[in-house]
Amino acid sequence: MGAKEWRTHNPSGSKRVIVTKELPGDRWLNILTAANCKIEICISPDVLSSAEIIAAIGDTCDGAIGQLTESWDDALYAALKTAGGTAYSNYAVGFNNIDVDAATRHGIPVGNTPGVLTETTAQMAVALTFAAARRVGEAERFLRAGRYKGWLPSLFMGNLLWRKTVGVVGAGRIGAAYALMMVEGHKMNLVYYDPYKNDALEDHIAQYGNFLKSQGRAPVTCKRAETIEELLQEADCVSIHTILDDSTHHLINAERLALMKADAIIVNTSRGPVIDEAALVAHCQKHPEFKAGLDVFEDEPEMKAGLVDLDNVVIVPHIASATSWTRQGMATLAASNVAAIFQGYPAWQRPDISVFLEGEAPQAAPSIVNAEALGIPIYKD
Ligand code: DGY
Repeated sequence: MGAKEWRTHNPSGSKRVIVTKELPGDRWLNILTAANCKIEICISPDVLSSAEIIAAIGDTCDGAIGQLTESWDDALYAALKTAGGTAYSNYAVGFNNIDVDAATRHGIPVGNTPGVLTETTAQMAVALTFAAARRVGEAERFLRAGRYKGWLPSLFMGNLLWRKTVGVVGAGRIGAAYALMMVEGHKMNLVYYDPYKNDALEDHIAQYGNFLKSQGRAPVTCKRAETIEELLQEADCVSIHTILDDSTHHLINAERLALMKADAIIVNTSRGPVIDEAALVAHCQKHPEFKAGLDVFEDEPEMKAGLVDLDNVVIVPHIASATSWTRQGMATLAASNVAAIFQGYPAWQRPDISVFLEGEAPQAAPSIVNAEALGIPIYKD
């Protein structure tokens, strides 16, 4: 593979920052330029290898913005440290591609981009849920193939999720947003599985249930499942919103898929390896009524054998956060993380991240995952 092409923005900047992919919008460039950075951006869409990233870091590099497709491990942080680097941000909220302990050992703060993906990603989970439930991909392929000969009473019958039960695995920001879209929009009862109780979500649904009752309508309910098995047995559709770590790798395996209803739907917009993809293929082959909607894959960009042939699976290429508002917001947060570290600012640890997206931002790094381990002070007014 030939050398990848890079372009430089603000060549006179005194701090050299490498950015391993083009990012949308220009607020992020303005933030780094204002922090006196020379920004070198790889303009190739190909995923950079670790050797290519190390070559790009070179002898002198103050900071980097990397992608979830790259493995930022000890070798990369060692190279960044040796080149004088003091800041890194992932262009993603998830950071399973990062060895945070290695970064911390090298004294390098690691930023991520929470808070701007919430509704966008939840919407894609909803889209995948209904695309699977209503067989949208399969019906579109049928139509495009010229096979539609006119309306029929039983053409592409799907599942009506109205007033059924939605299961959410991982009720953090995105999982809770998805839950509310399904509960409020489709009057579904919620069962969620999470090591932490989500009081705000439970209260919201209790109040919404009371509102429905006050209108003479059946309420909706919310239950925190004791076990994932309980959730899988009860839900008509299940959406996965956990992080990926050792405890969630293959959380959904053959045994657990077998517990689900025969015509249930499983959706994954989190990380591919949370589902044993080969087991899912086997399950979908055996149970044509069962459906799946996937944004992420176990060995991205590859898919397990047989997946693409399944009509009961809807697949999209890891685009759940792909709206311009979100992707520009992620760029703003990643650049703000790096610029703030250069300027010695403290770490922001408040839920409202939108203060960084327009106007004059607080003098803080929006999200540093190893702030505590590195003793970075927390922002105070
Ligand atoms: C993230 O930010 O972790 C997402 O997967 C990007 O879509």
